[in-house]
Amino acid sequence: MYQTLAGDQEAPSLAESYAVDYPHQSIGASLIVHADCFAWLARLPENSLHAVITDPPYGVKEYQRDQLEKRNKGQGGIWRIPPSFDGHTRAPLPRGMKVSDCLREYETGGLRRTAEDKPFSDVIPSERTPRRERSIAPHPSLKPQAFLRQLAHVALPLGTGIIADPFMGSSATVAAAEAVGVPCVGVEIAPEYYAMSQVAIPKLAALDLTEVSKAHTQARIIHLNMRY
Ligand SMILES: C[S@@+](CC[C@H](N)C(=O)[O-])C[C@H]1O[C@@H](n2cnc3c(N)ncnc32)[C@H](O)[C@@H]1O
Repeated sequence: MYQTLAGDQEAPSLAESYAVDYPHQSIGASLIVHADCFAWLARLPENSLHAVITDPPYGVKEYQRDQLEKRNKGQGGIWRIPPSFDGHTRAPLPRGMKVSDCLREYETGGLRRTAEDKPFSDVIPSERTPRRERSIAPHPSLKPQAFLRQLAHVALPLGTGIIADPFMGSSATVAAAEAVGVPCVGVEIAPEYYAMSQVAIPKLAALDLTEVSKAHTQARIIHLNMRY
């Protein structure tokens, strides 16, 4: 029960607490909201979210309509990673170079361990997003369930509270939260990704990752044995 000044009453639903007046849908224990997250966040009461797991666009520009159209036509636009953008000069990443080439030439562009017997600090190793996940949610920046489920689990260690992903994309964070049994509210501005998430969340959340974990462990061993 939820305590109010007027006495005990049913706790408000996620939609009542977090949808404000935006289009929304409840999925499992979670909620997705179709809104500009900056406007949405400004309308939430203080201290109403307990953890944020998000993957924002680098410049909050690449997901604008004109840039997505350029990407879809293969013309690049911001997706070509220009040498400078928004006052920031990007590190060189010449076309056609592999990470190993960049490491040799620029001594940057890849993570290394400091010693074989020490793990990366503050890093959770992750594979690329598996094909089966990308076929469920074909978003250009879909992140892997194996990675996000670990974050969702540690974000709310006691399982109480709510996670927010203000740049939800096609919902990988919401699906991961559903898979580990914690509620999440995801916000997405693009109508096509908001619609995609309605279908993708139950499918991504239902994936059994046992086989992926084995492949991931193998990939990590190969990575650690690589010599650049
Ligand atoms: C890097 S993607 C996130 C991908 C997501 N992690 C996934 O796995 O599907 C960033 C997303 O933020 C959305 N976005 C950009 N600006 C936004 C805003 N102001 N409010 C809400 N969503 C926004 C974009 O449309 C895009 O789908």
